[in-house]
Amino acid sequence: MARPDPHSFRDDTQPVVGHLSWDVRADFRTRTLDAVAELRLRSAGATRRAGGLLDLDTRDLTIVSVTADGADAAFELGPADPVMGSRLRIALPAAAAAVRIRYRTSPCSTALQWCSPEQTADGTHPFLYSQCQTIHARSMLPVQDTPAVRFSYDAALQVPAGLTALMSASAAGPGERGFRFEQRQAIPAYLLALAAGRLERREIGPRSTVWAEPSQLAAAAWEFAGVEQILATAEKLFGPYAWARADLLVLPPSYPYGGMENPQLIFLTPTLIAGDRSLVTVLAHEIAHAWTGNLVTAASLDHFWVNEGFTIFAERAITTRMIGRDLTELRAAVGRADLEADLRYLAGQPELTRLRLDLSGIDPDVASSHVALEKGYLFLRAIAESAGAERFLGFLRDYLAAFRFGSVTGEEVVAFARERLPGAVDYDEWLYGSGLPAGAPAVSSPLLDAVVAIGQAAPEPDVAAAWSADEWQVYLAGLGPPVPAGLLAELDSRYQLTASSNPEILRLWLTAALNSGYTAAVPAAVDLLGRVGRLKFLKPLYDALARNPDTRVLAQECFERSRGRYHPIAVTVIGARLSQADGSR
Ligand code: BES
Ligand code: ZN
Repeated sequence: MARPDPHSFRDDTQPVVGHLSWDVRADFRTRTLDAVAELRLRSAGATRRAGGLLDLDTRDLTIVSVTADGADAAFELGPADPVMGSRLRIALPAAAAAVRIRYRTSPCSTALQWCSPEQTADGTHPFLYSQCQTIHARSMLPVQDTPAVRFSYDAALQVPAGLTALMSASAAGPGERGFRFEQRQAIPAYLLALAAGRLERREIGPRSTVWAEPSQLAAAAWEFAGVEQILATAEKLFGPYAWARADLLVLPPSYPYGGMENPQLIFLTPTLIAGDRSLVTVLAHEIAHAWTGNLVTAASLDHFWVNEGFTIFAERAITTRMIGRDLTELRAAVGRADLEADLRYLAGQPELTRLRLDLSGIDPDVASSHVALEKGYLFLRAIAESAGAERFLGFLRDYLAAFRFGSVTGEEVVAFARERLPGAVDYDEWLYGSGLPAGAPAVSSPLLDAVVAIGQAAPEPDVAAAWSADEWQVYLAGLGPPVPAGLLAELDSRYQLTASSNPEILRLWLTAALNSGYTAAVPAAVDLLGRVGRLKFLKPLYDALARNPDTRVLAQECFERSRGRYHPIAVTVIGARLSQADGSR
């Protein structure tokens, strides 16, 4: 095999990057990074001894110069593939130890969002942040951008005066060339992360600091105060935390995800700050990734469920211990509803509803859905229910120990499980089948069943008054579509759902309302789409607006108006969905 990852030009007969030394100046005027990446090479394969080639991934980079062990090296930048970017091919002299590449990023780098002050919470300073998962590290630096290659890194990051720079690493104190960082553990490229803004910090645990813009700091510190309890619970389940710190960063409202498991610096959307700690499961999820994903990593995006399915399972194991099974089951029910909505959306592309994917030539961000997360979760839950909870936990620990700081394919995971838990489930059906297997685990608990029993009726006021945000989510997720117009109007007037300040409740309410033709919800949907850039909210709302002939044009107009404020990943994903909706008319 030469190129094992369909989304990377990395050739596995060539040397691998073992360490990155990165020197970066962030230029907010031109919206570019001016940088030098020194890649130290590992593995004294035959190619390296004899000299040969090194193929790296890049996207929209301007390569200024390349040296190998201090001498100029010949290089060639290939044509741009729309999904993969361009191959940078470097000619290595015999026994080369390191290459040094001087380059600049493009203002359109797909990893980076350069926010103007107006796009931040406080509106006073610009903000820069990266999102490298899935395949965007290559738009920030030339690298083997495949999760099958891991490297440690050190970095010096220069940013304008008044801004604080952070990375997915330990701070190594300010140096002459800006903020310095060091990540001693070997990580895949997609876990590289940087941010710079007007940021302040507060300690919220023995190994945790939360960083946020000044106006959000106090609220963020309160919302995420449970971080140490989550870490301690995870350690009891999965063994010692492998990273030096567990800091958190609150991003601007355009952040495209709920959270991102960047090592030592979890990125979080500000939409989690609900004021009642009702959305901290996302934090438990990102912390769980420190084991599932960051320690044991899916070998390519064809096996993405190995990251996300295990992490949803680990997240729910953590919250089961912290808040009990009854409450955790409510979240699993919302996850199940999200999965079913995605299965309906993907009805014409059943190959994208398998756990084992073949994404060659396909943009992994556009293909991403709840399948990896929630079908992956149900697969593991099915094994756990068949083998027994304690036995499955033992299996999970063995799995983490066996593949620690390595990468695995779904096939390797299944082989490992089959050997230890033979016959627990139909492994092949789960791995290769589309949709959900007939015997998929059913989510159920007394609290959950009480909400589900209401069905398409309005909850009585005394019942609803006692509901948590989770019960509201379960209720709304189970409502339809379609939901009778009378019920929607009644719910809205009784419970003011269109004015909900909890964004998770709001997205489920607005999705149900728009999908059932309740046009009174349209202005609130347009308002939300203009305020936040989180894909979990954008996807269902744009889909619903685009599906309805009365709001199709509005969806397009809203996107044109808002796209300048979204992260480049969100622009690509929503742009693709809108043109697909347009094409399927
Ligand atoms: N690693 C993901 C974010 C991600 C997903 C990045 C797909 C790129 C492609 C993160 O851990 C995640 O799963 N976030 C979820 C929330 C989580 C609680 C399910 C999200 O963003 O909504
Ligand atoms: Zn995740």
